[in-house]
Amino acid sequence: MIIAANWKMNPTLDVAGGLALALTARHFAPVTRLLFAPHPYLVPMSVRLGGSDVRLGGQDCHQDTVGAHTGDVSAAMLRDCGASVVLLGHSERRADHGESSALVAAKAAQALAHDLDVVICLGESLDERRTGRAEQIVIDQLHASLPKEFPEGRVMIAYEPVWAIGTGEVASVTDIAAMHAAITSELPKSKNGHMPPPILYGGSVNAENAASIFSVDHVGGALVGGASLDAAAFDSICDSARLQMLKSG
Ligand code: PGA
Repeated sequence: MIIAANWKMNPTLDVAGGLALALTARHFAPVTRLLFAPHPYLVPMSVRLGGSDVRLGGQDCHQDTVGAHTGDVSAAMLRDCGASVVLLGHSERRADHGESSALVAAKAAQALAHDLDVVICLGESLDERRTGRAEQIVIDQLHASLPKEFPEGRVMIAYEPVWAIGTGEVASVTDIAAMHAAITSELPKSKNGHMPPPILYGGSVNAENAASIFSVDHVGGALVGGASLDAAAFDSICDSARLQMLKSG
């Protein structure tokens, strides 16, 4: 299982330092933990995380290698700042910056070429769910957001219903199970015996609901926003993931 903290544009540097130290204080192997920190904090967080098993990531990167793109950050820059993974196509970037799935695929190709693993986010709006189009929308996003070719073992998917993000309203386990099964069946089959790309669930995951979400088939972990800003809550989510892994052998 993979548990990813998405701090978004939230903590001050002081708070971020405390949260990073808390991440190094405990271990949840075999769970993999990822931290998506704000870009200006990547270097200080890479220092704080030191030799820990927490992987550091950026919250976005540009689709070009280099150039006149004021305010943007390249995949190589993320690498240079200690990141080994990048979050792409989060619904907040799709909404705030008009990012299309084609752009997300271009960014993913760029990140992979610079040795960053990628987490690609997908998710339907409330209107799309209410009108029965959720599955089709997410599967279309999946196909359009994945680069044409990608190395096995380097891509992760995060299914995050937009209406569940930051609202305290979590998708039902039935809906999560259906969507994760649909995504699983659309992902390319491994040619080299690799595990298929893990599918994380995101959207109001917290210490109370994590265990039931992790017990759902095809849920490979969580992308955690709000609860990742609370060290004890995040630890508890990681612990639930660890217990689920031990349970399922
Ligand atoms: P949330 O955010 O846990 O606060 O709902 C999840 C995300 O947007 O990644």
